[in-house]
Amino acid sequence: MITVALPKGRIAKETLSIFEKIFNKEFKFGERKLILEDKDFRFLLVRNQDVPTYVYHQAADIGVVGLDVLEEQKLDLIRLLDLNIGKCSVCIGIKEEESLDFSKPTIKVATKMVNIARDYFSKNAIPVEIIKLYGSIELAPLIGLADMIVDIVETGETMRQNGLKPALTIMESSAHLIANKNSFFSKKDEILSLYEKIEKEIKSES
Ligand code: PRP
Repeated sequence: MITVALPKGRIAKETLSIFEKIFNKEFKFGERKLILEDKDFRFLLVRNQDVPTYVYHQAADIGVVGLDVLEEQKLDLIRLLDLNIGKCSVCIGIKEEESLDFSKPTIKVATKMVNIARDYFSKNAIPVEIIKLYGSIELAPLIGLADMIVDIVETGETMRQNGLKPALTIMESSAHLIANKNSFFSKKDEILSLYEKIEKEIKSES
C-alpha cells in the first residue's frame, strides 16, 4: 500500500487522472471526503503547503507538490519526477506604472514565500525588509504596505486586476512527485514501479 498526499484542487484532479489512465480504473473522492482508499493506494487530500509535511513525517509515502513550495520549505525530501502540470512562476510584482528600482535604501517586500524572497534578494545583495503575509499579497503595494511583492503568477490575471505587473521572474515552478527517504527505501520497488509508469504516461501525453 502506498499513501499519496495530493494538494486540493486542480493538481489533485490532474494527478488522479494520470493514475486512472495508468491503472485503467476510476479514482474519485467522495463529496467532501479527504481520504480515498483502494487496494494498492490511499490518497489524502491536503492543503498545498501541507503536502511536504505529510510526506516528511511519513504520514504519506509520496506526494505531489509545486517546486515553489519545496524550495520555500526546504525539507529533506526526494524529488522523484517533474509532472509538468501546475506550471507557474514566482515573480516580483510592482505597480503597473512603475519600473523595477532596487536603489531605494529600504525596499519593503510583501510575500507569503519569505525564504524564496530572502534568498533571492540576499544572493543579489539587495537590502530589503520582508513582510510576511498569508494571502491577498497583491493588495500590499496598493495601500502602501510594501513597495513590491514576491508571489505566484499563473495566468497573471490577479496582478493585472489589481493594477500590478510581474517585473522579474525569480523561479519557474511545476508540480513534482516527491517521497520521503524512509518510504523510498522501505517501499523502493513499489515506488520505482509507480514512478516508471507515471513517467511513461507523462511522456506519452506530451
Ligand atoms: C496564487 C497567488 C495569486 C494567484 C495568481 O494564489 O498568490 O494570488 O495564485 O494566479 P493568476 O496569475 O492566475 O491570477 P493561490 O491561488 O495559489 O492561493 P494561495 O494563496 O492559497 O496559495
